Amino acid sequence: SHLLLLNGPNLNLLGTREPEVYGATTLAEIEADMAQRAQALGHRLSSFQSNHEGALVDRVQEARGDVDFILLNPGAFTHTSVALRDALLGVAIPFIEVHLSNVYSRESFRHHSYFTDIAVGAIVGLGPIGYGLALHAADQQLTKKGK
Ligand code: DQA
Repeated sequence: SHLLLLNGPNLNLLGTREPEVYGATTLAEIEADMAQRAQALGHRLSSFQSNHEGALVDRVQEARGDVDFILLNPGAFTHTSVALRDALLGVAIPFIEVHLSNVYSRESFRHHSYFTDIAVGAIVGLGPIGYGLALHAADQQLTKKGK
């Protein structure tokens, strides 16, 4: 199957951005590791990061008919973006929401997500390992559907 790893604003700064919150691993390292893991499971993984809401919406729209499953960390758009939510509903591609930090132990504005209720599931607070766990879960979902 074809999976898309989609990361929102400021996640390009991983490794140097508030390392006490987000860890020392860079996005490039995560993307390379994830591509390798996907391949080992017999899948193909594309990665895309943007700081721009419209670019993320465009990428989700392009995924229609091409991508079978999305692994999504919307960054701060988690708490703000009806547009990205609507894009995911529009293409109807199943996705898992990932957050590196435990958003529920942080500021109250991070407690609401525009994505969790329409996601297959969510993984929060486990750092970069969360992406790998999401991939494992996506693989199970796809196998269940015979993809
Ligand atoms: C984040 C949590 C968001 O609240 C924050 O705006 C981010 C990263 C996380 O991965 O923990 O940019 O999505």
